[in-house]
Amino acid sequence: MIEQIQKIKNELSSYEFKASDAAEKFRIHFLGSKGAIKGLYSLLRDVPNDQKKECGQQINALKEEAEQLLEQAKKQTSNTETKGAKEDLTKPTETKLGSHHPLSIIRREIIDVFRKIGFSVSEGPEIEDDWHNFSALNFPPEHPARDMQDTFFIEKGENEIALRTHTSSVQVRVMENSTPPIRTISPGRVYRNEAISARAHCFFHQIEGLYIDEGVSFADLKQTLLFFAQEVFGEKTKIRLRPSYFPFTEPSAEVDVSCTICKSKGCNVCKYTGWLEILGCGMVDPNVLEASGIDSKKYSGFAFGMGVERIAQLKYKVNDLRMYSENDIRFLDQFKSTL
Ligand code: DAH
Repeated sequence: MIEQIQKIKNELSSYEFKASDAAEKFRIHFLGSKGAIKGLYSLLRDVPNDQKKECGQQINALKEEAEQLLEQAKKQTSNTETKGAKEDLTKPTETKLGSHHPLSIIRREIIDVFRKIGFSVSEGPEIEDDWHNFSALNFPPEHPARDMQDTFFIEKGENEIALRTHTSSVQVRVMENSTPPIRTISPGRVYRNEAISARAHCFFHQIEGLYIDEGVSFADLKQTLLFFAQEVFGEKTKIRLRPSYFPFTEPSAEVDVSCTICKSKGCNVCKYTGWLEILGCGMVDPNVLEASGIDSKKYSGFAFGMGVERIAQLKYKVNDLRMYSENDIRFLDQFKSTL
């Protein structure tokens, strides 16, 4: 008898609830009216009297164990059936972390560089009036940049409103609203009426810099830009300034950095010149200072403007501008940063 009880006990403990009707099968097999445990009770009659008590207790315990297992099995099947899922819903979810956009990474890096030397960050509106985008910056009325080809106009006529074509408009707003010393950089999105291609886009990003105080010189501008270039492209980086023209600066220059890709030996990115153009700059034209209410006899200053995509292109060696706004996850996923 004891052996038989043990056998059923083993069977019970190794029972596997596999199919969805396993609980019912289990019940019939062990606890049903013709089931294994009922059978044990009927065998109890033939057990000698002195063993009856012990055997009876063991069968009762077995029955209780079977009933408990049955309850558990029922609960599990009803859970999975009502939720309609086979997965373990209590498992922690796997969260896929996103990454910063490469342009955000570069923008923050540039801001950090200028913060170190005392520049604050200022912003202005993307929808601008003619005054802040052009007139206050000394653009003559017939300047080609005002042409429909370059500018997205919202309202034409006397109070012209357009999408800003550069972040130099923020210079004007800062100068109008503060008194020197002014040391600020203005990151933001700008718009131009250009056909989209690998090399041009109808919107892109710029960072404008402005420094105004008594006695600010071209040497200060050059040193500031050298510091910037070495922080961003490495301490061996050299810069060169070429004379240029912008309506809002006099004198004006374009700035090249020594090619970061071939180390100035000559490659197809620098077109075998060893130099890469990165920004425009100059001494703020006295007309611009006066237009914004700053005394040009007392104060002087420099300004510069750079394209964030351009810096990103050089750092990441991504030559197609469209990649930055297509939001292709395979592209974006490659940029991981804690910045
Ligand atoms: N605003 C110019 C552009 O969009 C860039 C620029 C050049 C900004 C010279 C400046 C500057 O502040 O001094 O092309």
